[in-house]
Order: sequence, then C-alpha cells, then structure tokens
Amino acid sequence: MTDEESPITAPPGVDATRPSIARAYDAYLGGKDNFPVDREVVRSTDEVLPEVKACARANRAFLRRVVRYLVRDAGIKQFLDLGSGLPTAGNVHEIAQAIDPTVRVVYVDNDPMVLAHARALLAINNTTTVLTHDVRRPQVILESDEVRSYIDFDQPVGVLLFAILHHINDREEPEAIARTFLDAVPSGSHAAISHFCDVRDEYPDEAERTAATERIFNERLGTGRWRRREEIRGFLGDFELVEPGLLPLQYWRPDPEDPGEPFEHHWLVGGVAGKP
Ligand SMILES: C[S@@+](CC[C@H](N)C(=O)[O-])C[C@H]1O[C@@H](n2cnc3c(N)ncnc32)[C@H](O)[C@@H]1O
Repeated sequence: MTDEESPITAPPGVDATRPSIARAYDAYLGGKDNFPVDREVVRSTDEVLPEVKACARANRAFLRRVVRYLVRDAGIKQFLDLGSGLPTAGNVHEIAQAIDPTVRVVYVDNDPMVLAHARALLAINNTTTVLTHDVRRPQVILESDEVRSYIDFDQPVGVLLFAILHHINDREEPEAIARTFLDAVPSGSHAAISHFCDVRDEYPDEAERTAATERIFNERLGTGRWRRREEIRGFLGDFELVEPGLLPLQYWRPDPEDPGEPFEHHWLVGGVAGKP
C-alpha cells in the first residue's frame, strides 16, 4: 500500500486530514483502519524509535495475558475497557469470552472511527458494547445508563487502562481520572494499566530518542507523556499490585502458550492491581 492509497473511506465525523491516536495505533499494529496522515506519524517515529511498532504489539500481547489472568484467576466477569482502540485481532471480549462466554465488556473510546468500525465488526449484544465517551469525564461514563445496563457496580469490575493514561496530559489530572474509576468499583475489582515509561535515568543513552518520540507524539497527536514508574504506580491508588508488579510488559507473567514475539524493551510498563 502506498501512502496515497487508503483502503477505507472516512466515516461521518472522522477527519481524515488530521492524524488520530486510535488510527495511528492501528497503523503501528499493521491494521488497515488508518489514513496516510496516520501512517505519516508512524514513519516519523520510525526514524527515531523504530521499536514503537513492536511496543504496540507487545502491548496487545500483554492485554491478552492480563485479560486471561483476570477472568481465570481473579474471577472478573465484567470489564470497562477505557480508551479501547479500534477493533483488532484479539479484542478483550474475544479473549475473555473464550474462557467464559458470559463475561460482559464495555468498550469506551472518544474516537468516532472506533464506534463506526466497532459497530460494523464487533457483535454488539447483551454481553458486549462499544460507547463513545471521553475518559476525561469519568463521572459521565460511570453514570451512563448504557454503561450501567452492562456493568453491575456491586460486583467486581476489571478496569482496563491499557495505553490510555499516557494520552492524558498532566493538566487534565490523569490521577484524579483514574481515582474516580477506581473509587466506583467494589472490593475484588482489579485495574490493569500499561503506560509509556520514562527511563531516562536508568538508560541515559535513550534520553534523546525518548524525547524525540515524545515530541512527535505531542506535535502530531496532541498527547503522549512518558512518566516515571512511581507516577504510573500512583494511578493505581491503594489497589494492591499483583505479582510480579509494575514492570516492562514482557516480564509480566509471560505465557508460553501465547509468547508473542521475542522483544526486550523498557518503554512500556504495565501491571495489574486488586482492590482490597
Ligand atoms: C494507544 S490506543 C490504546 C488502545 C487499547 N487500549 C490498547 O491498549 O491496545 C489509545 C486509545 O485511547 C483513545 N483515547 C485517547 N484519549 C481518549 C479520551 N480522552 N477518551 C477516550 N478515549 C481516548 C484513543 O482514541 C485510542 O483509541
């Protein structure tokens, strides 16, 4: 596919002249739900940090391991997937419902392309739905009748924060946003997070590449914050981290049956924590 070609047309409300986080992420993952302007973002980061694509794939592999862990080991039967992204291979409901078909999943994203494509591709039924909301307005999501028709907030909830809080700028108070969601769920609930990690202190040689990538994200997509691990841990509040903690994704409960691709990195950390 050349840059000028685009196999898709823009659904109503989608501006194909400006890159979007959801479409650029789809392009990093090798998907087709993106436009030349999104692929241009990928090309720019490729020049400084070609590992971003492998990071995106590692994030999806982490998501699969986490969802399986939450359904099998933590007994989670309902998920709120915040900043869920465009449908891709191995969506949360497919992973979860392969283990327990009664698991309910609410996908939330603010990109109109996500709603258009998810409605077309995902089975919207009494276990799975996709809603357009802005996670920066957590109370609106939590009070939404549609959300409440899928999620019983008296039962444990899996709150999924995969690669979303690093798209919330500091002034938008990501910690308060996360806290609002975590406060709304009962004991036994779990939160999962993945987040760009600022490793400039540990790997000074990476400082330049990290800063350059961060700059591209902010200039083109308007967001992208590499935070220190303590800050990311703070987003999980008083939830207790399950073993092995918050660490580069490849070290989180590797699964020989779903090994993903071998890839050593430290730019994305992730973990799971449970509400006591
Ligand atoms: C990098 S993608 C991650 C997708 C998926 N969670 C994953 O980890 O594979 C981030 C997603 O968050 C969405 N997003 C960004 N800011 C958002 C906001 N304020 N409210 C809702 N969704 C948002 C984007 O549209 C995009 O689909």
